[in-house]
Amino acid sequence: MAKAKTQFVCQNCGTVHTRWAGKCDGCGEWNTIVEDDPMGGIGGGPGKTPKKGRAVALTTLSGETEEAPRVQTGISELDRVTGGGFVRGSAVLVGGDPGIGKSTLLMQAAAALSRRGHRIIYVSGEEAVAQVRLRAQRLGAANTDVLLAAETNVEDILATLAEGKRPDLVIIDSIQTLWSDTADSAPGTVTQVRTGVQAMIRFAKQTGAAMVLVGHVTKEGQIAGPRVVEHMVDAVLYFEGDRGHHYRILRTVKNRFGPTDEIGVFEMSDKGLREVSNPSELFLGERNAKAPGAAVFAGMEGTRPVLVEVQALVAPTSLGTPRRAVVGWDSARLSMILAVLEAHCGVKLGQHDVYLNVAGGYRITEPAADVAVAAALVSSLANVPLPSERVYFGEVSLSGAVRPVSQTAQRLKEAEKLGFSSAMLPASSAEIPKGGKKGSSEIEGLPDLVVEIAGSARKLGKGQEED
Ligand code: TYD
Ligand code: MG
Repeated sequence: MAKAKTQFVCQNCGTVHTRWAGKCDGCGEWNTIVEDDPMGGIGGGPGKTPKKGRAVALTTLSGETEEAPRVQTGISELDRVTGGGFVRGSAVLVGGDPGIGKSTLLMQAAAALSRRGHRIIYVSGEEAVAQVRLRAQRLGAANTDVLLAAETNVEDILATLAEGKRPDLVIIDSIQTLWSDTADSAPGTVTQVRTGVQAMIRFAKQTGAAMVLVGHVTKEGQIAGPRVVEHMVDAVLYFEGDRGHHYRILRTVKNRFGPTDEIGVFEMSDKGLREVSNPSELFLGERNAKAPGAAVFAGMEGTRPVLVEVQALVAPTSLGTPRRAVVGWDSARLSMILAVLEAHCGVKLGQHDVYLNVAGGYRITEPAADVAVAAALVSSLANVPLPSERVYFGEVSLSGAVRPVSQTAQRLKEAEKLGFSSAMLPASSAEIPKGGKKGSSEIEGLPDLVVEIAGSARKLGKGQEED
């Protein structure tokens, strides 16, 4: 029989090593590697007799499900992100930077649910009861029937939850404070967090209560005990935002019961988070339409169109290597657009610094923004403002061709709603209204865009000469 080899596993990132080391190559953490039985006890090693299994009843896919399987908060930005409310018996992880507003959001959700007659239990491990009460007063949630506990021990929390009527929703703020008697490592370690979360998930599945777990993102941008709980829960939501701005975005990263590309937009005020039902107005708020280097991108976030301004500044460089700085977009993607402009459009940017910014601190993840970025860059280089009533979208390929993107009709509709009468879009877009839109240009490649902007620069130049 082959000898079972021992292996060493990092408790922080899960990297498997063949020998023990002080530092993990995978994540760079110290003292996180421990010896592990590769069989994990499954199948039993020598000396272990497997216990005789108990047959479970097999069932069919169709069958009775509890009616109203979701608890809706009535906060529509939150309900959209969860896919229509929190699912009973499921566990949702809400992650985000410390201080971003997770406790505020969940206290507001708890209050809203409680007003709808649900039994809500809020377990705070980070703040004392007095602090939570103070926040609740500020949010106007103090007069609701939300039940509050300040506790961190897993067994005590479970005993508390088991008492009385089954809660509809339980909020654990946060998982990093949980500790269990059964795990012998210190609170806050991966083992403790994992054990605590497992116990909470088990409670949710057994009782049918919805469980919301709050987790702080560590400096690497992952939820502490990096990724150790993401796979265990049913849905993962990230609460993001820029500290310099008031608004916050709740984004779905994983959802077993709904779409994963939805966002909810909120604004932090002195009375808590306020829903923003029309984010485009917010992101276009302080727009100066006459400035060169600004292009409005008609984007999509899941099922919802969002208009944002892309700003570029192209200036001759005084350095040997020109600077490229990007906020709110992928810097590798910017390099690609610059290369395509150089190679296929004759736009030379090798001697220029390039700065790119997405207005309002918003982050674009769609490749459809390529055309808007290129338009902003060329507009800044040529020092001509783009038409103020125009939106831009389309994906650029390395050959310089502009490829169609999805949901063209919805993008155009949102643009029209906000007073943008024309668009620059890929020529081969399906779903374009017949005959195209008045004043719109359908482009096949990036050179078309450059020609058009250069054309308006010439016209503008002539106009100025005549003046
Ligand atoms: P909090 O919900 O405690 O953050 P987290 O739980 O994610 O750590 O929110 C903290 C920040 O929100 C804090 O900097 C103050 C701000 N805030 C407001 O601006 N208005 C409010 O009404 C509340 C409750 C908080
Ligand atoms: Mg908090």
